[in-house]
Amino acid sequence: MARPFAFNPIDPTVRRDPFEFYVRGRREFPIHAHEEFPLSLFSAFRYDDVQAILRDDGTWSNQFEPAFEGTPLADAPRPPAESMLALDGDPHHRLRGLVNKAFTPRVVQRRVAQMRSYASALVDEAIETGEVDLVQALTYPFPVQVIAEIIGIPREDQEQFKTWSDRAVSNLGTGFFQNPSEEEIQQGQELLTEMRDYFAPLARERAQSPREDLLSGLVQAEHDGSKLSYEEMISMLVLLLVAGNETTTTLIGNAALELMAHPEQMERLRKDPSLLPTAVDEALRFASPIQFDPRRATREVTLHGCKIPKNSIVLAWIGSANRDDEIFENPDIFDISRKPNPHISFGFGVHYCIGANLARLEAEIALEALVSKTKHIERSDDALLPLHASPVFRSASRIPVRLLPA
Ligand code: HEM
Repeated sequence: MARPFAFNPIDPTVRRDPFEFYVRGRREFPIHAHEEFPLSLFSAFRYDDVQAILRDDGTWSNQFEPAFEGTPLADAPRPPAESMLALDGDPHHRLRGLVNKAFTPRVVQRRVAQMRSYASALVDEAIETGEVDLVQALTYPFPVQVIAEIIGIPREDQEQFKTWSDRAVSNLGTGFFQNPSEEEIQQGQELLTEMRDYFAPLARERAQSPREDLLSGLVQAEHDGSKLSYEEMISMLVLLLVAGNETTTTLIGNAALELMAHPEQMERLRKDPSLLPTAVDEALRFASPIQFDPRRATREVTLHGCKIPKNSIVLAWIGSANRDDEIFENPDIFDISRKPNPHISFGFGVHYCIGANLARLEAEIALEALVSKTKHIERSDDALLPLHASPVFRSASRIPVRLLPA
């Protein structure tokens, strides 16, 4: 008798090592119907299917409310303006055009020296301590310093800023698997109110006296004769904060973990730092920070003989697509010079990550500081690393390491 396919995305054992499940999913259950959860929920594992789902934004929506009808989330109050991540079609296109006016390559490029100096200071301090949790020492504070600087958040508020981002992603994606409690819904609302109250006076101030930061750019942005409303701008700031922090923390941490787990690749990088860009992309592919990208079916669809009813949720497994041997040669080998590397860790199609270049740059700068300032880095114990609470992430929330100075 065929073995049952016990793929439960919130089971910690599965989350810790999902790759065997992904292989079986791609081979035997390219579209898998989950029966253990309250929503009508499916998983897609093959690269081609994941890409096709993310490409076809008419069939596969990022507006999830109809899927939650009859659950506590259906009655949860919505923000006054949705963020662009939660919109489809023209409303999404308009907001994306506006943010692109403000979040230009220049806004990032003019902060490169500052980014290097942040990373350098954090790594110096870590080396001086000798044994540290790399998350607390580098991967956690660095992206928040960078995004706060880019947006134009005063330095003294950065700690607060990161706390919001942590709270916002702590249960990201869990609503697909279990109904949230009243308390969780309430906490989500409180968080949004706190963030809005914080940003409101800052935005007013930038409208009066613009600076060279993203906040001023958003206040002024105009695209096709349209401007961001005040509520839209607040939602955009919240999205940038939430989308850009944990993801980049995870990328830098995963890259460090894979380099430590593959010492020969670490040596290659030490000898040839020009491999940094391909090393970062390989970390993105091999240990994809975001494992699944959800979509709602706007109509009934049949894929590989599996009928997906309208308003079902499909989890497009980026983490599996990035290990698909139809696309990647030796997909389970971590090779920091891999080329081509068409991973889809930043998504695909209309919602493709607008922070992809910033995230790559941050990871390169952080890894360069780590590699150039140390002679050796290793895990200081071999205990199981704690997993991030959200099933969306493949991420360790603590990475104890020992660093030997160069
Ligand atoms: C390693 C780091 C990152 C990863 C893995 C990542 C991944 C992703 C993915 C998979 C999506 C597509 C979501 C979807 O299809 O629904 C996305 C969208 C997005 N990302 Fe990122 N991201 C990263 C860093 C960043 C950074 C640094 C920023 C901003 C500063 C950012 C801002 C956004 C925004 C605003 C969207 C929504 C785009 C839209 O809806 O059109 N991300 N990201």
